[in-house]
Amino acid sequence: MQVRINKLTLDVTDKGQGPALLLLHGYPLDHRMWDAQIEYFRHTHRVIVPDLRGMGQSEGTPSNITIDHYADDIITLLDELGINRVTVAGFSMGGYVLFALLRKAPSRISAIALVNTRADADTKDGQRSRLEAARNLLEHGSIAARQAMLSKLLSDTTLHDQPHLADEVGNWMTEMDPLGLVHAQLAMAFRPDSTSMLASIRVPTIVIGGEHDKIIPPQLIKQLANSIPNAKYRLIAETAHLTPVEKPDAFNNLLSDFLGKAHV
Ligand code: MLT
Repeated sequence: MQVRINKLTLDVTDKGQGPALLLLHGYPLDHRMWDAQIEYFRHTHRVIVPDLRGMGQSEGTPSNITIDHYADDIITLLDELGINRVTVAGFSMGGYVLFALLRKAPSRISAIALVNTRADADTKDGQRSRLEAARNLLEHGSIAARQAMLSKLLSDTTLHDQPHLADEVGNWMTEMDPLGLVHAQLAMAFRPDSTSMLASIRVPTIVIGGEHDKIIPPQLIKQLANSIPNAKYRLIAETAHLTPVEKPDAFNNLLSDFLGKAHV
């Protein structure tokens, strides 16, 4: 459905009934990366999956934005949908938005799943590569995102054994508005460091990574889990970065077990 938020029309999936579960996608993706989770959790939860502004079917802005803009959209969305408290799973860039939500509206969040994500800010080198990625997107369009990302999002096994899935994920990327991706790159490049808030997180937390993730390798995922009191740490075997898509059953089992134990 389309929801009017902060003067923009955002595309939001809202399915099922029960405790609210918000799924935040990564870059250069949209709600479709969560299709298997929407199908699974709609039987137990009210699953809310927005396309972040400028990505997927959601309208973007002509001017530059920060990670806080995405988080402000989510808070307004929760108000619009009448949702007071929500469990949030943030995948990679969606995790950066989740940290912003924890800063801005901690009382709205009942539990969190940090999925293939990290809390630290970009290094100077990281910022340089994002500026380069933004330049490529402006010059060549969203195909530049596919060329840069597809082989990092999926493991060699998935690329080899599931060519249709690889094509589908590649098509998601080429369908994006390149300007929305440029804004996302710049927002990520200058995102704040969230490491200092980790020790004060009190909600039930699970941190999930992929065995062969080269974008956010397992040792960083483990370090993140170790920095949050009582956080669970789980790695999904035979996956790279895009764990919810590569191994949906393993991912859904982990998340479902976590939600059950956290009573959310
Ligand atoms: C993502 O998957 O959202 C991105 O790879 C995150 C990033 O580039 O830091």
